[in-house]
Amino acid sequence: KSDPRLQGISEAIRVVPHFPKQGLNSSLVFFFGVWLFNYFCCCGCCLTGIMFQDITTLLLDHKAFKDTVDIFVDRYRGMNISVVAGVEARGFVFGPAIALAIGAKFVPLRKPRKLPGEVISEAYELEYGTDCLEIHVGAVQSGERAIVIDDLVATGGTLSAAIRLLERVGAEVIECACVIGVREVKGQCRLNGKPLYILVEPR
Ligand code: PRP
Repeated sequence: KSDPRLQGISEAIRVVPHFPKQGLNSSLVFFFGVWLFNYFCCCGCCLTGIMFQDITTLLLDHKAFKDTVDIFVDRYRGMNISVVAGVEARGFVFGPAIALAIGAKFVPLRKPRKLPGEVISEAYELEYGTDCLEIHVGAVQSGERAIVIDDLVATGGTLSAAIRLLERVGAEVIECACVIGVREVKGQCRLNGKPLYILVEPR
């Protein structure tokens, strides 16, 4: 039976069409391409950015925000997890609250050139080009049990890079968790066999 809190969480997330990319106002060719892409890909809306899932409205809703954190905390408490790794930027919103509640440390996985200390980097593919996540050397010790938190999973490329990064420093990644995602995430097979826990589907 589905958790009754999930509907409130889903409804608190604002859906913003055509952000951050323009659909209708740019060329017809582009719009038709986006439409075709969305038609054939169940999670295409997330990838193209035309149905942006805005979690800032969730953060304004005390009950929905607390329910979100509570569900993750209930799931991971007592599992001997010592590392909550949050993906920049929106993994930083949920990760620290979860880490504090389960007695773990919070480890930010940041975009390039943001961390001041010695880092390890892991590249991942974007729709156009590549990006990279970095972790501070020494933030995680070999053998630590970790979860990865982000707001949303679309292709799974970002989470996959986060897993690789944590495994390179010797952590055992127990699970990845996102507030929003398509349950049959196309990219789930890219998560190196790690489980993916999702609260709600994109609207
Ligand atoms: C979004 C989202 C995830 C990622 C998911 O972040 O917050 O981190 O995309 O996409 P994927 O599953 O296809 O990899 P974004 O890249 O927009 O960065 P930002 O949070 O810094 O804006």
